[in-house]
Amino acid sequence: MRKPVMAGNWKMYKSAGETSSFFEKFAPLVASATHAEVVICPTFVNIPAAVEAARSTAIGIGAQDVFWLKEGAYTGEVSAPMLASAGCRWVIIGHSERRQYFGETEETVFKKTVAALEAGLNPIVCVGERLEERESNATEAVCGAQFAGGVGGLTPAQFARIVIAYEPVWAIGTGKTATPEMAAAAHKFLRGEVRRQFGADSAASCRILYGGSVKPDNVKGLMAQPEIDGALVGGASLDPTSFASIVNF
Ligand code: 13P
Repeated sequence: MRKPVMAGNWKMYKSAGETSSFFEKFAPLVASATHAEVVICPTFVNIPAAVEAARSTAIGIGAQDVFWLKEGAYTGEVSAPMLASAGCRWVIIGHSERRQYFGETEETVFKKTVAALEAGLNPIVCVGERLEERESNATEAVCGAQFAGGVGGLTPAQFARIVIAYEPVWAIGTGKTATPEMAAAAHKFLRGEVRRQFGADSAASCRILYGGSVKPDNVKGLMAQPEIDGALVGGASLDPTSFASIVNF
């Protein structure tokens, strides 16, 4: 069976102090949550505070991006081995905000995913269509191209270690969540792509998360879909009580 992953993407929110106080409230609320892997992805600078605060818990810490080279003259970048040595176990790659504002492409997603795997991190690779793409019936073409370009070149052994997140761009931060049926249809399509590329066993074991306005009051319906293996949560992961009730759906 696929163990759900409930991941919080904090985006560019919270100070070091706010990071520590989040964990003080959040950790006890999810202490008995063995049904899912729980992940928090703070900003780079707050990774040490989060790793420290999560030390005696099962909560995994992740980054929101990574560079594909190990070291060098790349001002402002952070490498996968650096994240691993800071205590990260996870990393989000190819988030739509990185695609939209920072020039992320299928090619950079692929390079970052390989680098993350080499450093022992678990990549959460994001795909998802924009509103105009959904409205022009291009959802599958867009998600399929992002999947093929971003992770299609991995070996089956590499692919087995990644998690996919389907995040329709029009549902991110808008309060407009995809209905459970819409999300499940996209997940089913993506699982079909996994099967085509990597075979039936990979398709059966690959975890596909849904992201886009996941809240305590809609998580149950989403998680009731057998195709949905967890959530990647933005806004609602910033509040310890709200993210704990999502984790404990
Ligand atoms: P919201 O949950 O705020 O819509 O953000 C989703 C997201 O982008 C998670 O990566």
